[in-house]
Formats: sequence, C-alpha cells, structure tokens
Amino acid sequence: MTRSGSDRSLASLVDLEQGLVSRELYVNPDIYQQELEQIYARAWLFVGHESMVPNPGDFFLSRMGEESVILVRDERGKLHALLNTCRHRGNKVCRYDDGNTRVFTCSFHGWSYDTDGRLVGVPHYEAAFEGALDKEQFGLHEVAQLANLNGSIWATWDSKAPSFEDYLGAFEPTIRHCFDASDGTENGVELVLPMQKFRLPTNWKFAAFSFDGDALHGSTTHRSLSVFREAGVAVMADEQGTAAAETRAAEQEGRRIVQRGGPYATTLELSSRQLGHGSHRNLYEKPIDEIPYVPTWEKYEPPEVEEYYRRAWERRGKKFAGHYLHAFGGAHVFPNINVQDNRHLIWHPHGVGMTESWRIFPVDKSAPQVVREATLRYAIRSCGASGVTESDDMENWNYAMEASSGTVARRLSYPFKSGLGGAYDDERVPGMTVNQLSAEENQRSRLRRWVQFMEAKSWDDLYPVKKG
Ligand code: FES
Ligand code: FE
Repeated sequence: MTRSGSDRSLASLVDLEQGLVSRELYVNPDIYQQELEQIYARAWLFVGHESMVPNPGDFFLSRMGEESVILVRDERGKLHALLNTCRHRGNKVCRYDDGNTRVFTCSFHGWSYDTDGRLVGVPHYEAAFEGALDKEQFGLHEVAQLANLNGSIWATWDSKAPSFEDYLGAFEPTIRHCFDASDGTENGVELVLPMQKFRLPTNWKFAAFSFDGDALHGSTTHRSLSVFREAGVAVMADEQGTAAAETRAAEQEGRRIVQRGGPYATTLELSSRQLGHGSHRNLYEKPIDEIPYVPTWEKYEPPEVEEYYRRAWERRGKKFAGHYLHAFGGAHVFPNINVQDNRHLIWHPHGVGMTESWRIFPVDKSAPQVVREATLRYAIRSCGASGVTESDDMENWNYAMEASSGTVARRLSYPFKSGLGGAYDDERVPGMTVNQLSAEENQRSRLRRWVQFMEAKSWDDLYPVKKG
C-alpha cells in the first residue's frame, strides 16, 4: 500500500480488514499538521492533576499538542487551563515549569493577566489605548471545557466535544481508579513534581500507539531485564511466551512485577474499538478480596514498604469485597496518554519526527516518606529516561522512525495482523473488546479512531460514535 498520486484519502492508507497501515501516517509532515488540527485541537487531553496546584495562585506549565498551556488555580480556588500566549504580540507569558503567582506579566510590553486569565494591566493604557482597547476582549485564551476526574484534570479546545466521561466510555472507571490511593481511597494520590521530560526522535504514534498495545516486543526489546536481574525489575506477567516462567522466577528473586493477580487473572488486550482507548489488563477469576497479596518490595527496600503495600492491598480488598475489578490498572486514552496506576506516560507531538515525553509518577498522599521514596525509586529505576525498560523502547522507536522515512522505505506498509479477526466480547467487561495479549488489537483500535478523527468535519461525525 502506498500513498499514490491518484488516491490520497486517509482512509486508503489504513486497511484494518487486512491489518495494513501505510508508513506515511508516521513520517508525512502534511499528515502530521492535519493531526494537530483534527486530533489535538479537539480531543480531550490530560493537562495535570489537582495536587500539582493545591493553593490559589499555584500554576503548572502543561501542554496540549505542541502548545504550551498554563494550568492555574485562581484566587477563588477555581482551575483554569490557559493558552500560554500573550494577546498582544503572542509572547509567552509564563516561562516557569511551576510556581505560585498573583499575575502573569508578559516580558515584552508588560501586559498582565490575573490567575483567571483576565487582562488586568496594560502599561501606558490611558496614553496609548484608552477608548480603543477593551481589556475584557483580550484575556488569555481559555480551553472550551475542563473536566476533573477523581483529581485528574483534562481539557479540550472544542466546545462541542462530549463530556469527558462519555469520551472515555467503558474506560471511565479504569481511568478514575488510577487516581485512587493503593488502598482504594478516592482521589488519594499526588503527582510528584518535578517530573521527567525528554525528547525522542520519533513520531508520537510509535510510542503512544504501541504502549499498552504491543506485548510482543517484550521478549526481544526487554530481554535485558531477564539478563540484568540486579535491576530488580521484571517484565509484565504474560508479556510474551516465556512470561509464566519468567514471572515465577522474578517472584522468587524478589523482582517487582507491577501486574498483579498471579494465577487468578488472565492478562488480555481490552479495547474500545469505537473510542480508540485500550489496555493490557486482567480478567480476574476471583473477587479481589480473595486474591492474596504478592510481596514484591522486600528484597530492595526497608520492611515498612512491603508492610505498607500489604496493608493497602488488604484494605482495598475489603473496600471492594466481592468485586472483580476487571480492567483496573490503567489504559491508553486516545490520543496520547497512558494512565497507569504507578505512572503516567504522555507523548506530546513535537514535529513529525520528534516526541516530547513526560513521565509523571503518583504516590499515595498519605504514604510515609520511606514508602514515597521507595515508590519513586522503583518508578525511576524501571521507566522514564533513566529507567531500564524505556531506554530499550526508545532505541527501537527512534531507529524505526529513521529507517521508515526514506523515499523507498516509506512506500511500504506496516502489518498490524497479530490476532486479526480474533476479537470477541466478554460480558465481564461490557463496552470493551477482548483479544489475546499478543494481539495488536489495541493498536488497530487507535488507528481506526485516528482515521475517524482525521476525516471528521466536526464532533457530530465523531460522537455518537461513528460506526466503522
Ligand atoms: Fe505581551 Fe506585548 S507581547 S505585552
Ligand atoms: Fe516496552
């Protein structure tokens, strides 16, 4: 499949019946520009968390697509997401990653904006602008909708977008519970600042569409984890053919496995084919309170850490006694974030061949310092720019971008054929499609939704969900 001169429609580049996708999606600058317009200017995007801006005047410099956005709590305690561009000549009005302020003052001509975005100060106003400039009209540009889901903050530029809950569909509880504490307390985490930020020379979809969607890479890309056991990090359970043995070995050695449920759960690809969200999560065979805690901290951390997480597991089991908690633990939210219960991975587009990745780690609000430090130590050791897993991933995504971009190389298509035609419904997870973990179902779901966003003229074409 190539992008020929005669047929340049986007749908012709994505053949999900055959599982073939043109490389142009990943390397073509025109398509990338269209993504910014069609996807990033109207999808719901993650912009932060209440805990990053707890007090009036607190701000956190976030991002939507390529654009800088200020998440700020105003003097009355209300949250706003404001485009970081002065209304006079477009200068950045905020240049700090986070902080506290009463006003954002532009460094160019000194216009000042209140924490709710209103233009409140214009130097030389009487002499220069009196009667000509209505300050009310030139506040900072604000998102059309802001949503707070269990402490996590999401925004869209499109006033016609459905509610964030509807946007998430069947994945709403999955995402909501990722912001619970480990004992199940609602809105029980804080997201730790400063976060990790790093750039990868690859298209954002290589990372965003394969995370929680490409289990087959584990046995090759992350082979170092089995070899370099001192890192104390194990691959996810059942990530590849040898995973059962690998998981048992990891448990015996005290390496941490994030995936829980052991013999009482099967990890599968759970997908919303219509909305594009998807996860690698468990279908449990027992209610959560009947699943024993698996110790994973004791080898590397003080005993208080294991004890804390053991008690949290038990309290969570009591709170959700009798529930199976299918699909808990995180998911990819279309288009560019993987929300998980121990880390959030955001893949911001930054040009067709560059991705700015943010890694934000949650810790329980009430965790003692020893637990907080151990949790962050594990997170940083296992993932992010310095972690043992993602350094492997990045190496491959980066070379895939470079080697796919050549004049001849880009004429080829990528096969997304694993598990093609194998998806089925399961009444335990209504609204989701199930496929085996090695299937590339989640990636196909994201690509299906990608085409819909790219072709839709408005949200009317996207929601109620377009069939296809
Ligand atoms: Fe901000 Fe002129 S660009 S005051
Ligand atoms: Fe990986």
